[in-house]
Amino acid sequence: MEDRYEELIKIINEADYNYHTLDNPTITDQEYDSYLRELFELEIANPSLRREDSPTQRAGGKILEGFEKVEHKIPMLSLSNVFNESEIVNFDSRIKKENVANPSYVCELKIDGLSVSLQYEKGRLVRGATRGDGVIGEDITNNVKTIKTIPLKLDREIDIEVRGEIYMSKKVFEKLNEEHVKNGEQPFQNPRNAAAGSIRQLDSKVAASRKLECWIYHLPNPEDYGIATHSEALQFMKDLGFRINPNNKLVYSIDELLQFIDEKTATRDELPYEIDGIVIKLNSIAAQRRLGFTAKYPKWATAYKFPAKEVLTKLRDIVFTVGRTGQITPNAVLDPVIVQGSTIRRATLHNEDYVIEKDLKIGDVVAIRKAADVIPEVVRSLPERRTGEEKDFEMIKFCPICGEALMKKKDQVDYYCLNPNCDARKIEGLVHFVSRKAMNIDGLGDRIIEDFYNMGFIKSFTDIYNLKNHQKDLIELEGFGDKSIANLLEAIENSKNNSVERLIFALGIPNVGEKTAKVLAMHYETLDNLMKANFDELNEIEDIGNIIAKSLIDFFSIDYNKKQIANLKELGINTVYTGPKVDINEDFYNKTFVITGTLEKYKRDEIEEKIELLGGKTSSSVSKKTSVVIVGANPGSKYDKAVNLGITIWSEDDFEKVLNKSE
Ligand code: IVH
Repeated sequence: MEDRYEELIKIINEADYNYHTLDNPTITDQEYDSYLRELFELEIANPSLRREDSPTQRAGGKILEGFEKVEHKIPMLSLSNVFNESEIVNFDSRIKKENVANPSYVCELKIDGLSVSLQYEKGRLVRGATRGDGVIGEDITNNVKTIKTIPLKLDREIDIEVRGEIYMSKKVFEKLNEEHVKNGEQPFQNPRNAAAGSIRQLDSKVAASRKLECWIYHLPNPEDYGIATHSEALQFMKDLGFRINPNNKLVYSIDELLQFIDEKTATRDELPYEIDGIVIKLNSIAAQRRLGFTAKYPKWATAYKFPAKEVLTKLRDIVFTVGRTGQITPNAVLDPVIVQGSTIRRATLHNEDYVIEKDLKIGDVVAIRKAADVIPEVVRSLPERRTGEEKDFEMIKFCPICGEALMKKKDQVDYYCLNPNCDARKIEGLVHFVSRKAMNIDGLGDRIIEDFYNMGFIKSFTDIYNLKNHQKDLIELEGFGDKSIANLLEAIENSKNNSVERLIFALGIPNVGEKTAKVLAMHYETLDNLMKANFDELNEIEDIGNIIAKSLIDFFSIDYNKKQIANLKELGINTVYTGPKVDINEDFYNKTFVITGTLEKYKRDEIEEKIELLGGKTSSSVSKKTSVVIVGANPGSKYDKAVNLGITIWSEDDFEKVLNKSE
């Protein structure tokens, strides 16, 4: 019986390998099912026989309460990104600079899934883990066992860790979403999210039903097996029974590499799974070791990311909106399309020149693009698709809300409605006043402000603080209850105690952003002092130039503004700086910091505040002037730029070390 048990496991494992890994079935489905049934029956009748690597485990069944944490002895790193040919050439030059003559590279598809570490002991799968933060991941062994392209047992009794990508094929994804929609459930945005959601199922039966797959692409410690190149490592893993992507290619020149990229870019849609780029890995392991790693990435590999996908749709109309400063923006109204998981209905067209430059006519077929985390963009029109029915774009001459004639400043592209009483400007001004970085009044969203404005409850900043006098009317409104009104009024009252930089920013003074407001608040300490400052005095402050100084003088000379501030003061709004004082620190003073990636210990605002309180400045973009880039998890192109420019890079720990040293 034991012999038959072993034999069945062998037959089924081989059949799985041939079917799923080699894509070359050797037995019929009926035969397979009958062997599997026999194995199940044997295990039920003789529970002591059951082995952890038995193919019956693939059906799932165990339900967990949560996932255990596991430590990756060798951290699971991410990859730096390159976006074009010149960045690829730079990557190659950096490698050559490290005395790697004639480097050869392995080009691989960048599978759009989630990375996994697989640990085998004596040839048996003992653990599958997610990447997590790179050092601590989660134990997903039960779910990993349900993936038929992952061997439960290798041909050799070897101890080994391999890494790869778990993903969901396009076909399975579409089917799963169809089912979700049918059941009234939210569909997944893309196959990657679906794969990630599936691998984190506590019920492994559900994970099994999701038909995930896996490609293996990395051997963390090739030296242990006497392996000298990455291509050998791939072959070695293939021989052990792992599924290695057949598209991998060893190239000996940049030309060959670029050709691979061109080829795969052109044919990516034909693949049965999603890829989002090409991974380029230096082939020689010795050279890899010489190059080493940065905090987050190996220096010997990089990922070429495909440009954001373009999708075609129809430009139905161009409508105009009025901002708080009176600036007029044309917006594209589009036939709704799904671009990388989200439905796009509108896109900003910025200004008249932009529309002219893109040659957009109403009714045109246009190409839309949305890169990850980036606002949608109209890339171009397709004049060849015109029917003659299209209408020319015409810039408006009058404000679409108040009818005032629009003005265009000399040498500028934007049109403005300069009517201070324009409803659209006032509403936008109120939305800005209550926003998170301004007075931070929770519960007054854009729609509510607009409704309250139209109902006459809030026409000016001071009306916000008098809203409590309308409590009875508000409770009668649809969508409001006693509790939500009480919360809102409380948030409004609390905002009275804000330190004055919030009020300075909230007033909406042209060219005075959140940072400038803070500089001014710290410098003048009270709004009264700031209002008395003259142009030269303002101009002397570091970071305050002519434009901001003039804007402040203009704003505070307008009677309406002066009156409004006096009223706010009378209502009890604080006009004094009550935030922490700057404590100059030489490691930070006058240096510019850029923060990128997800930090573990600080919120973005908090670390920026800390830096500023030590006399440092913060910026959102990396340039030659940047002194230090602080890097968290999954940093993006800012990190790569910093590496390219040779800028000092700190991890969060480095930041704390410098901080503690100073303190
Ligand atoms: S190599 C040190 N190869 O892309 C080696 N990664 O953006 C690091 N990925 O975290 C990984 N296909 O999840 C490698 N052929 C491939 C890949 C690949 C997809 C993923 C992986 C990684 C992420 C980085």
